[in-house]
Amino acid sequence: MLNKMIIELGKECDIDNWMYLVNKVKDGFPGLETKEALDEHRDTVLDFMSKQSAICAKSGNKIVGTLLFSKNHNMICFLAVDAEYRRQHIAEKMVSYMLTFMDPKRAVVVTTYREGVPEGVAARAFYKRLDFVEGRLIEEFGSLVQEFVLEQKIIK
Ligand SMILES: CC(C)(COP(=O)(O)OP(=O)(O)OC[C@H]1O[C@@H](n2cnc3c(N)ncnc32)[C@H](O)[C@@H]1OP(=O)(O)O)[C@@H](O)C(=O)NCCC(=O)NCCS
Repeated sequence: MLNKMIIELGKECDIDNWMYLVNKVKDGFPGLETKEALDEHRDTVLDFMSKQSAICAKSGNKIVGTLLFSKNHNMICFLAVDAEYRRQHIAEKMVSYMLTFMDPKRAVVVTTYREGVPEGVAARAFYKRLDFVEGRLIEEFGSLVQEFVLEQKIIK
């Protein structure tokens, strides 16, 4: 029988399964190359978990999607789905759930690869599909990236 997909806030007890997925996708993220960087990222994830700002997608005990976000900055800070589970609308569901925690009066921002970078093709297509629009070209941690911005529709 297929496991049901659950989208929920990640908790401290999820950290090992969470990092198992991060290890699988780390090549797509500049700055996660070394063991030290991964250890630091683990602490960052625990910090986001303690602030109810870490969302995961679970299939049984397996974490197949992860999203870190900042309520202060209305920002997506990290998003990844296990390669074997992509194109099943898991990232879309995690972003929808994240929006329930965000300030609806402010735009949501994310930075991702600039156009023409192979690693950025999926992310850029994904954000555009969710109505994010291309924003400023900036530099972040020494990498050339681009902001994508989602203007939220305020429902009165
Ligand atoms: C970007 C990423 C998170 C998308 O996750 P996902 O769960 O596969 O995305 P979804 O299934 O929710 O995609 C929703 C829609 O976005 C678009 N989309 C997603 N991936 C796409 C791709 N590779 N090519 C074209 N369109 C894509 C499609 O319109 C898709 O709907 P459809 O499958 O019905 O056509 C995933 O590819 C990933 O983890 N990539 C590596 C890490 C990364 O780039 N993270 C973001 C860095 S900021």
